[in-house]
Amino acid sequence: MEPSLKEKIQNKTQKIEEIIYSYLPEETGYQKTVLSAMNYTMKAGGKRLRPMLMEETFVLFGGTDRELLEPFMAAIEMIHTYSLIHDDLPALDNDDYRRGRKTAHVVYGEAMAILAGDALLNYAFETASKAFRGDERDITVAKAFRILASKPGIYGMIGGQTADVEETEHQIELDKLIFIHENKTSALIECAMMIGAILAGASEQDVKDVEGIARKIGLAFQIQDDILDLTSTQEELGKPVGSDEKNQKNTYVSLKGMEQSVQDVQRYTNEAIQSFDNLGYSNEFLRSLLLYLSGRKK
Ligand code: IPE
Ligand code: IPE
Ligand code: MG
Ligand code: MG
Ligand code: MG
Repeated sequence: MEPSLKEKIQNKTQKIEEIIYSYLPEETGYQKTVLSAMNYTMKAGGKRLRPMLMEETFVLFGGTDRELLEPFMAAIEMIHTYSLIHDDLPALDNDDYRRGRKTAHVVYGEAMAILAGDALLNYAFETASKAFRGDERDITVAKAFRILASKPGIYGMIGGQTADVEETEHQIELDKLIFIHENKTSALIECAMMIGAILAGASEQDVKDVEGIARKIGLAFQIQDDILDLTSTQEELGKPVGSDEKNQKNTYVSLKGMEQSVQDVQRYTNEAIQSFDNLGYSNEFLRSLLLYLSGRKK
């Protein structure tokens, strides 16, 4: 019998975990504490969505050279995990749970959590650099490396987090909220999917189209995250609910209301799927995954 979508996601997640684990540092030496704190949050689970999207976009464009792909899969998950450790810090969202565990700063203290975030960001580049092999493929790797450097940065994730942190306790306009969501969240999804496309040798136009698709998927993903913060439970999400209200954040739901938010998750997802179908390449699993995300419960 054909496995269900849920089973396929589970199987793929399992394989991705093995890849990620193979790149994690050994917890030895005088810097052992920071290495443990890095691995603590990396090994706590999570959906592994970004490496999954990277791998599936790679497959979409007929990529086969996994020696190039796998270091980048581990690297994007390290950058994502660093963003979570720092996002949860007392100075930012001040949340105590993540991926079903106490957050890094609760277990290891704030100083070590800050360093573990820094370490994961840095180690992500050390890891991705393993894709450089000193041969003609290095040109492709360099293009991917550039995306890995820029999308999480000041014109991407950090830009979004900056506005997110600054614009609390007062209402903002929708266009600023969209800026926040597209940067704090879409940027890493764009990063993942664009790198998958680049490493598979996709054309510049295809990479650009993938960026647009990922932007909409990321926006829908963050709106759904805002919805779940109000409708789910800590048990299901593995992180606290009600965090946005506690911090008086602007969210899609606080600006547009629940009903409109639910509709817009669907609308942005459908728009992304339409562009996906127009690419002229096919990966049925990736298509189903993108659709599935709009109804995700965690
Ligand atoms: C959480 O990302 C942060 C957001 C951008 C909403 P995920 O929901 O992908 O978190 P994990 O990786 O599964 O823990
Ligand atoms: C955070 O958005 C996005 C990043 C960590 C870059 P949220 O603050 O809403 O994410 P959660 O809800 O804590 O996962
Ligand atoms: Mg936040
Ligand atoms: Mg948060
Ligand atoms: Mg949230």
